[in-house]
Amino acid sequence: MAFGPIMRFTVGELQIELAPMTKETISEFVSLAHGGGLQRRSITRYMGMDFAPTAEDEEEWFEKTRAAKDSLIWGIWIVDGESRTLIGNSALVDIDKDGHSGLIRQATSGSLIFRPEFWGKGIASVAHKARTWYAFNELGLHRIKSAVIKQNIGSRAALERSGYTFVYTERNEQYAQGELQHMDCLECLNPLELFWSQWWHGDRPSKTSLAARRLTREVMDWADKNVELA
Ligand SMILES: CC(C)(COP(=O)(O)OP(=O)(O)OC[C@H]1O[C@@H](n2cnc3c(N)ncnc32)[C@H](O)[C@@H]1OP(=O)(O)O)[C@@H](O)C(=O)NCCC(=O)NCCS
Repeated sequence: MAFGPIMRFTVGELQIELAPMTKETISEFVSLAHGGGLQRRSITRYMGMDFAPTAEDEEEWFEKTRAAKDSLIWGIWIVDGESRTLIGNSALVDIDKDGHSGLIRQATSGSLIFRPEFWGKGIASVAHKARTWYAFNELGLHRIKSAVIKQNIGSRAALERSGYTFVYTERNEQYAQGELQHMDCLECLNPLELFWSQWWHGDRPSKTSLAARRLTREVMDWADKNVELA
């Protein structure tokens, strides 16, 4: 594990590739040429990051990630002919860390686009669909968890488009912008019968979970047709 395999799809006119990052491009995450990336509070304020990382921090993160045994990370690349531009990442971390019985497989997802000029174009929503499809169809996870600061409306909306639903709120998770902020914990369940029946094993799923299952199935059908797993 460490980096995820290449997946390609389009978002409007944009050709997007989820693919491993390279050591040479990792400093893009803090590149002053593109406005500072993760050195900008406006980008990291919902990520529990109070400091501005440097290129050296990013290189260290790259090496740590490359060696990680329980993560799959993708760079989010915009491809235009021969040119490839790194704009963010999408991740599944702590894979299997919470499995109690060894039967149930879980991971936690996270994502960021460090160039705000690419926000609001639907890139995260579609990247989440591809990642969800990979997690359920290829890794055989039962559940993906994610946590979002309440004020991060765009992040939550993007997750909900893949069928993530609300589970509970952690109060006072961080302090920013002059207030204590709460964090909503979400989950997305594998809709495929094998995993769905193991997860519920006789318990009755809520109406919300059933509706989310239908949505995640649609997402997986969409991905079957529209995501190229190289
Ligand atoms: C959160 C983030 C990944 C969203 O990426 P994105 O590509 O802009 O998301 P999308 O374009 O797919 O938008 C998803 C939804 O949120 C809405 N949205 C996007 N930005 C928004 C904003 N700032 N405020 C309100 N809604 C917003 C979109 O309109 C869309 O809604 P819809 O489904 O009703 O159309 C991106 O803003 C980001 O990287 N932010 C900084 C890091 C971060 O917060 N990461 C998440 C930590 S949990």
